[in-house]
Amino acid sequence: MKKQSDIILETQDLCKYYGAGDNLVKAVDHIDLQIRQGEFVSIVGKSGSGKSTLLHMLGALDNPTSGKVFLDGENIASLKTDNLSKIRRRKIGFIFQAYNLIPSLNVWENIVLPLGLDGKPLDEAFIEDIVETLGLTEKKRSLPNTLSGGQQQRCAIARAIAAKPSIILADEPTGNLDTKTGDEVMALLKASAKKYGQTLVVITHNEEIAQMADRTIMLADGQILSDGKSSPTSNEAEEVDDHAEI
Ligand SMILES: Nc1ncnc2c1ncn2[C@@H]1O[C@H](COP(=O)(O)OP(=O)(O)O)[C@@H](O)[C@H]1O
Ligand SMILES: [Mg+2]
Repeated sequence: MKKQSDIILETQDLCKYYGAGDNLVKAVDHIDLQIRQGEFVSIVGKSGSGKSTLLHMLGALDNPTSGKVFLDGENIASLKTDNLSKIRRRKIGFIFQAYNLIPSLNVWENIVLPLGLDGKPLDEAFIEDIVETLGLTEKKRSLPNTLSGGQQQRCAIARAIAAKPSIILADEPTGNLDTKTGDEVMALLKASAKKYGQTLVVITHNEEIAQMADRTIMLADGQILSDGKSSPTSNEAEEVDDHAEI
């Protein structure tokens, strides 16, 4: 039996509605879930099922229509904007399908930028390791617009890992990568999460990636359709895991 204190993210009766009347969309519709520290959770479901909306509220990027989101036991809906952005920066790393890199900063500068914002000491060896593992060593001084889409996403992933957040929230992080690179990147993310006790929540359409998770939550029409242990059907996902090094 897990202690209550192991719960790092929790939603209670969480709802996010858009529009009204005939145009009412229940993007997230009464979701209760608990995610434990260090857990790797995948979120799957058809396009429009509410995955991104849920992830945004878990990361305090969006306000619920009703209900609560607890981060480390604190209801983040009740926090002021200043405190929220501080908590987001310290505790949460986001990875989106859009890379959101600063065009005027090179790869290295983009990766270390969030650390600078928070005055955290720079663990250069750690960042060098991330850069190398993601295959960006030769691109360290390159500007984002000289990189391929895949390289830009690897930079964004490195940036999220570098800050060592306790929670990493990723929305289709491998959506723009070829299968092999995507699997390698996910293996890195998973190994990083494990090494630092990070909680990893990943939205994915990729069945193999979903099965790499400890648990898979399936959404339909803003509600939880199923929530349970991921069950790899082949040992391919485990092989990727075995080779993961950071
Ligand atoms: N800003 C918004 N305004 C109106 N409707 C939205 C908005 N964001 C999302 N939706 C709607 O909410 C539902 C869930 O969207 P989303 O969370 O993006 O789904 P998913 O990520 O699973 O594809 C969809 O019907 C979508 O059209
Ligand atoms: Mg989405």
